[in-house]
Amino acid sequence: MEVVLAKTSGFCFGVKRAVDTVYEQLEKNGSKGGIYTYGPIIHNEEVVKDLEKKGVKVLDSRQELEALDSGSVIIRSHGVSKDIYDIIEKKELDCVDATCPFVKRIHGIVEKESSQGRRIVIIGNDGHPEVEGIKGWSNTPATVIEDMQAAENFDAKSDEKLCIVSQTTFNYKKFQDLVEIFQKKGYDIIVANTICNATEERQKEAVDLAAKADVMIVIGGTHSSNTRKLYELCKSKCEGTYYIQTLADLKLDLPNSVELVGITAGASTPNKIIEEVQNYVRINF
Ligand code: F3S
Repeated sequence: MEVVLAKTSGFCFGVKRAVDTVYEQLEKNGSKGGIYTYGPIIHNEEVVKDLEKKGVKVLDSRQELEALDSGSVIIRSHGVSKDIYDIIEKKELDCVDATCPFVKRIHGIVEKESSQGRRIVIIGNDGHPEVEGIKGWSNTPATVIEDMQAAENFDAKSDEKLCIVSQTTFNYKKFQDLVEIFQKKGYDIIVANTICNATEERQKEAVDLAAKADVMIVIGGTHSSNTRKLYELCKSKCEGTYYIQTLADLKLDLPNSVELVGITAGASTPNKIIEEVQNYVRINF
């Protein structure tokens, strides 16, 4: 029996970089002086708890940041608005920026284009921390567009210039459809496709693997929407698909006829958990 782990399973480049940054900070200085992350570094309770045990505290709001007098503040991969950097600087805290470079690029585009007078349109989910961060780099009020209805209803003066960017995890096809609605309205538009393909690549690899596998194991948190999506995609190709959070949830029953077991994991699943599952299946079956 063969066990194949999808290469793109687990952390994407930006999340891995951010989590590694926190552990590096701990290694350098311990938690002396205070290490804080602005928001949980990743949507994975085990990782956040492990970091907490080592002394890393999570700041849940701007007020909590403003109340700090010393320490290092780590910015997570989603990035933050410009005024958060301003608070950190004003309070003379140490800023450790782990914003994903792909998100940083969006901040740069938004800052530049808005300062040259373009109105910023962000295609994405309003309220998502990444979108909130992007908004905060615009020198003019930014508009968030989530669906067709909002795009159809969008109204600007005919001589207004626009710059459209996207949340990194937005669906490409939907982005194109929404951009088309704006183009039809005849505005002067710059479109920056800022979608990151990490999610799409992970999904595509999982689907290809599930199509070949007799059994497929998808690992990730129950609240992780990208893991749920992975599970649904795999299930549509492979009836024997399992959705587990950790090895403890795995109740595998493999008939002798099984030749290929595929494993993939959502974007916030730590490597340690993936390895445990992989080793268990390899050793026990
Ligand atoms: Fe991950 Fe950065 Fe892409 S955080 S999903 S690699 S934009």
